[in-house]
Amino acid sequence: MVSTFSTLLLGIALGVQHAAGISLNVSDEVSIRQAAETAARGLLSYYTNNETTAAGQVGLLTNPPYYWWESGAMWGAMLDYWKYTGDTAYEKEIMAALTAQLGPKNDFIMQDQVFDTGNDDQSFWAVNAMTAAEYGFPSPPAPLPNWEVVAANVFNDMAGRWNTSTCNGGLTWQIYASNVNGLNYKNSISNGGFFQIAARLARFTGNATYADWANRIWDWTAGVGLIDESNGYAVYDGTDDTQNCTSIDHDQWTYNAGMFVYGAAAMANISSLSSSASSASASDWTSRAQGLVNGSAATFFSPFPNATNVMFEAACEKVGTCDTDQFSFKGFLARWLSKSSILAPALASSVDPLLEASARAAAQSCDGLGNSSCGTRWWVGGFDGETGAGQQMSALEVLDSLLVGRAGAPLTAGAGAGASSSSASSSATTAAAPTTLSTVTSSSAASTTAVGSTTTPAVSATSATSSTITSSVRAEPASSSVDMGGLASAIQSAASKPAV
Ligand SMILES: *[C@@H]1O[C@H](CO)[C@@H](O)[C@H](O)[C@H]1NC(C)=O
Ligand SMILES: *[C@@H]1O[C@H](CO)[C@@H](O)[C@H](O)[C@H]1NC(C)=O
Ligand SMILES: *[C@@H]1O[C@H](CO)[C@@H](O)[C@H](O)[C@H]1NC(C)=O
Ligand SMILES: *[C@@H]1O[C@H](CO)[C@@H](O)[C@H](O)[C@H]1NC(C)=O
Ligand SMILES: *[C@@H]1O[C@H](CO)[C@@H](O)[C@H](O)[C@H]1NC(C)=O
Ligand SMILES: *[C@@H]1O[C@H](CO)[C@@H](O)[C@H](O)[C@H]1NC(C)=O
Ligand SMILES: *[C@@H]1O[C@H](CO)[C@@H](O)[C@H](O)[C@H]1NC(C)=O
Ligand SMILES: *[C@@H]1O[C@H](CO)[C@@H](O)[C@H](O)[C@H]1NC(C)=O
Ligand SMILES: *[C@@H]1O[C@H](CO)[C@@H](O)[C@H](O)[C@H]1NC(C)=O
Repeated sequence: MVSTFSTLLLGIALGVQHAAGISLNVSDEVSIRQAAETAARGLLSYYTNNETTAAGQVGLLTNPPYYWWESGAMWGAMLDYWKYTGDTAYEKEIMAALTAQLGPKNDFIMQDQVFDTGNDDQSFWAVNAMTAAEYGFPSPPAPLPNWEVVAANVFNDMAGRWNTSTCNGGLTWQIYASNVNGLNYKNSISNGGFFQIAARLARFTGNATYADWANRIWDWTAGVGLIDESNGYAVYDGTDDTQNCTSIDHDQWTYNAGMFVYGAAAMANISSLSSSASSASASDWTSRAQGLVNGSAATFFSPFPNATNVMFEAACEKVGTCDTDQFSFKGFLARWLSKSSILAPALASSVDPLLEASARAAAQSCDGLGNSSCGTRWWVGGFDGETGAGQQMSALEVLDSLLVGRAGAPLTAGAGAGASSSSASSSATTAAAPTTLSTVTSSSAASTTAVGSTTTPAVSATSATSSTITSSVRAEPASSSVDMGGLASAIQSAASKPAV
């Protein structure tokens, strides 16, 4: 220990720059792909359920500490890796994982995971179905539906949960009555997940119902003050519906901004929307997306003057209080900023420098445990000693993000997406031809009148009725869901105390 430490001090004193971490040249595609490959392999070193025969465990990281949602997040990172690098090595694992967790209604509701399933958790799996559709990932084997249908099933679940009894709308964090902590918390990640799925379905399908919902969800979120458009587009964590959403938890997390920015960029990419008078225009959506980029740049980047444009988790990283969930969050902001710069190209000039500097710093952090394990704090110039699946995921996502341009524009329904069989390697390695959504015209809007802006689409009932949940519920802490914001924690601790 002592000699290592003094060698390090000597090195610093002599100004020696040790080559540390994963080597990365951000101008060299081969170098980026190699770096991503190392990070992806490191991430999957945490995945030990590859060939498990335990029911329901295929696709899942070890839980605890990695709750159900984070496994979904991992496959999202791996789908992007598959598409951006053209490396098909993990394609079978991705397919097996996504199909194993689809659930009986093909909507990522797993009966044995209901205690770990809030709206946000379901979203982290559901966005993978959108990505699979947009990137031409092979469809699930028959009789399973294609990825677009899976995403639409989740959308229908969520639209059915929209609850106007309080706060004039919104989704609560939790879904099931058995999961008491968070049933009264209307939070950004849950509504943001619904927003992003609606926006991507709107772009993918051209169906105005989805666009109307994306408008409604944004308007609600901004209306209650969770997106603070007049204050640098800050995205706050959540709000208490027992107070009709008048009190707000002002914590800011990278993934909340990330979830919304990509939905806004998808809306900006729809060339013409005319479904309802209150709908925002594509240029409104571009400025919203740009506002979220600006807000993110101000809050989540450049933690110190020596770390310009390096991403950090502002609410916990400097003080060292980030938890297992939160170690992965930076990855999602990287993922969605990069994709946003494709769908709203005007964002690229502000997004690219943030991602390049962050990827460089993240790669340097991947110098741990003798096996390129990635660290938590990208701004220390090396490995900080704190690693795990979340850190691997964040590093992989920010490295992936430098390759987003290779994927071309995400497909739309009319552009060859959802082919039931394709040569995986060719779909992974061939950039999709840029395509734009065919205009959502007034006539197509009119044709959806029956399910239009004022009508909630039919809910596909889930098999998870409260009576069955009550009997199968396992006692677990509320921390089993994604969001760990201050108000959520307060609700959690209040719930464990006698009522005042
Ligand atoms: C990084 O890659 C670019 C493009 O291949 C190359 O021109 C440049 O020399 C590389 N830089 C270093 C330091 O290797
Ligand atoms: C590195 O090694 C550690 C300890 O053996 C292991 O737990 C971890 O999964 C490995 N990580 C990577 C990134 O390969
Ligand atoms: C999963 O199992 C298959 C079959 O043994 C193997 O080829 C593959 O490398 C494994 N994948 C991972 C990520 O361990
Ligand atoms: C809507 O919210 C109210 C107030 O929290 C609650 O009593 C009601 O059960 C909710 N409705 C649904 C369908 O979840
Ligand atoms: C609750 O909040 C909503 C949305 O902010 C508002 O429209 C409604 O009037 C409020 N209801 C009450 C009873 O204060
Ligand atoms: C649009 O989407 C809604 C919600 O899923 C669905 O009910 C409706 O049938 C769709 N309309 C068209 C024209 O496909
Ligand atoms: C949508 O994104 C594609 C890919 O970057 C781009 O070519 C196209 O111009 C965008 N369309 C609109 C309407 O912004
Ligand atoms: C974002 O920041 C840029 C550069 O500071 C500024 O020009 C632009 O007006 C900002 N846009 C929004 C929507 O905040
Ligand atoms: C940057 O500054 C911070 C705060 O002084 C320090 O903790 C960190 O190690 C520095 N990073 C580098 C790369 O020198």
